[in-house]
Amino acid sequence: MPSVTDYAIPNPVSQNKSGVIGRAVDRYEGPLKVSGTAPYSYEVQTPSPPAYGYIVGAEIGCGRVVAVDDAAALAAPGVKLVWHAFRTPAQAERGAKVNPHGQSAAEPVFDSDVVEFWGQPVAFVAADTPENAREAAQLLGIRYQETPAEFGFDPLKAEIPPGDDDVRLGDFEGAFAAAPVRIDSLFTTPIQNHCQMEPCATTAWFEGDTLVVHTSNQSIKAPQHLLAETLQIHREKVHLMSRYIGGGFGGKGSAYEDLTLAALAARDLKQPVKVAFTRQQMFHASIHRPATVQRVRLGATPDGKLTAFALEAATHCARNVSFTEHAASFSRALYAAPNRLTGHRLVKLDIPVAGPMRAPGEAVGMLSLEGAMDELAEAVGLDPIELRIRNEPESHPESGAPFSARQLVECMTDGAERFGWSKRDAKPAQAMDGEWFVGMGMAAAIRGNFLLPAKASMKVEADGTVIIRQGMTDIGTGTYTILAQITAETMGVPLERVVVEIGDSGFAPAPGSGGQFGAASAGSAALATGMVLRKTLAGMAVADPASPLYGADPSAVDFRDGLITVENRSETLASLVGRLAPAGVEVEGGSTPAADARNWAQHAYGATFAEVGVNSVTGEIRIRRMLGAFACGRILNAKTARSQITGGMIWGVGTALHESNSVDERFGSFIGQDLGGYLVPAHADIVDVDAYFLPEVDDKANPLGIKGVGEVGICGVGAAVANAVYNACGVRIRDYPLTPDKVLAGLG
Ligand code: MOS
Repeated sequence: MPSVTDYAIPNPVSQNKSGVIGRAVDRYEGPLKVSGTAPYSYEVQTPSPPAYGYIVGAEIGCGRVVAVDDAAALAAPGVKLVWHAFRTPAQAERGAKVNPHGQSAAEPVFDSDVVEFWGQPVAFVAADTPENAREAAQLLGIRYQETPAEFGFDPLKAEIPPGDDDVRLGDFEGAFAAAPVRIDSLFTTPIQNHCQMEPCATTAWFEGDTLVVHTSNQSIKAPQHLLAETLQIHREKVHLMSRYIGGGFGGKGSAYEDLTLAALAARDLKQPVKVAFTRQQMFHASIHRPATVQRVRLGATPDGKLTAFALEAATHCARNVSFTEHAASFSRALYAAPNRLTGHRLVKLDIPVAGPMRAPGEAVGMLSLEGAMDELAEAVGLDPIELRIRNEPESHPESGAPFSARQLVECMTDGAERFGWSKRDAKPAQAMDGEWFVGMGMAAAIRGNFLLPAKASMKVEADGTVIIRQGMTDIGTGTYTILAQITAETMGVPLERVVVEIGDSGFAPAPGSGGQFGAASAGSAALATGMVLRKTLAGMAVADPASPLYGADPSAVDFRDGLITVENRSETLASLVGRLAPAGVEVEGGSTPAADARNWAQHAYGATFAEVGVNSVTGEIRIRRMLGAFACGRILNAKTARSQITGGMIWGVGTALHESNSVDERFGSFIGQDLGGYLVPAHADIVDVDAYFLPEVDDKANPLGIKGVGEVGICGVGAAVANAVYNACGVRIRDYPLTPDKVLAGLG
């Protein structure tokens, strides 16, 4: 497979002769979504009437299921099957793996009577209607035995996760003790839930011996392989699709029991089966972002040069599923300081499974560091932007690696100019608007940039239509649209002539959506595949006496306006392919990261500015306006990229002001179990939010010159809001979210 370096800049995308790259193109699948006709996995039409499953979650936090009385449920109207620890389907042993090189091992259902967390699926009912399944599930008599458990997060009990040692440089303790200016602040962030619009859901049926399954997952291969192993069938016999996904955010990077139960039930019932988690069940049964306690220590000279820098983060995860919220990792690349200490501590608890959530690490880690930097700015009497500029590193502060493209300073200064930052009074509580304190805050943003191997296929039909197919997903981020743009620009055809088919295990594999690597990975493969197709078509044209290009140098052939051309000779793609290959011309291609890709420290950057009002009577905080300035390489689509960023910024407001879950330590359950109790920003909370991108091409990142925009938008926003609250009313809150009670306590 060719490496991305074979398609280095310049290439058709970077040359952008048709101008399709970067344009604010409407979403490819937008009309389907707004008309309600994009079939999400639960809504997919089945070939015959389906059965409906209902999952039952454990009502203890830790222990065993000792007995299940299922007689009444089995006898209930419409019930087709009941499964639990004492009545299980035929399936592989946990961890079994018969197919070679698989991404997943078998994950059987109810293979143990052990309950590891509240809401863990412990039983399943399938019936002729969703109502009958749910009704019968209430009739199950599940008896539990509880065992001693640890539900409460005590950061002092946290230990170094294996293989995750502290990173130390110089002598932090000595330098901190000697520093003329010191900040030592403790920040806390709560458990957060993904709350995707679409809960996890699966529709499955068999066509002959092939399992057809539509599910809502950020990747294709992992769930496909999981089903093959669990059902002990050949991987090729699992046709898994995830075509439309109502939000992922990391929460759908895992597969859950809806997937396996739908497949197993479809097999045993010889009938299509639909299984979905309810909104309430999602809080426990899917992953969450764990709480953190973060200590930031900054030592500086009186003129604001950092001499000592520490960020230590404690967090928690499930007893048997290791995960660390890497709240300190990003800070290793952000600011220069000779003496450094960063690291993580982890405690295992008997609560639901913690996992990645949008910008894992940075999203909560920046809440602490960017708040502490604001405190330091005040302590040394510097503007927060000037303080950051004085600590801008020339290369990676720890590895010394050069940065690929880094415009953090430009984001801050240009954003400040546009936002009107100079009007901010550094002294808190100086501006009032009626009973509202008004203030401004800012924070930097950084998020790593990644590239994963991917493949694609591309086909020109006899009528000139170009179809790109890829086992890639679109979790609402715009993957369909940017793949259409890259294909159109590479093949020199109008966007309207491009068909994008993704989310299907039958297509060439791509890594899926996560870690803001989707567009770069899938898009690089699309470009590489297009280059293969161009070469193929050019070879056909110059070898065909009937073509006006006959005898030309194939390397001189260009693709533009639906034409294949050499100098003033040309024909349409349709005429070439229609004449020589009426069934169409299809090729496969792919890309892998260049061997030297990791020689550069690669990140997307930004700066967020917020103006808030704080009500002096009620303690209520309102966002008045926000602006984000970002530098993320070339922008493929001005509209979808901006949507990603402003969506992240809005989520950052939720992080600052609304989102919080906590454990009911009597039971090990979460207190927030619906969107009435777990608050996220609504339209009324968000007034004036805007974001823009600085011109940039990151030629070290990938042949597209792009970087991820999916996660950098959320990074730092909460801190900008908290800093603005401090500037408005002089109350520094380090315990997120910033609720009115905390504001009032500070106002005194
Ligand atoms: Mo993402 S939270 O890396 O899917």
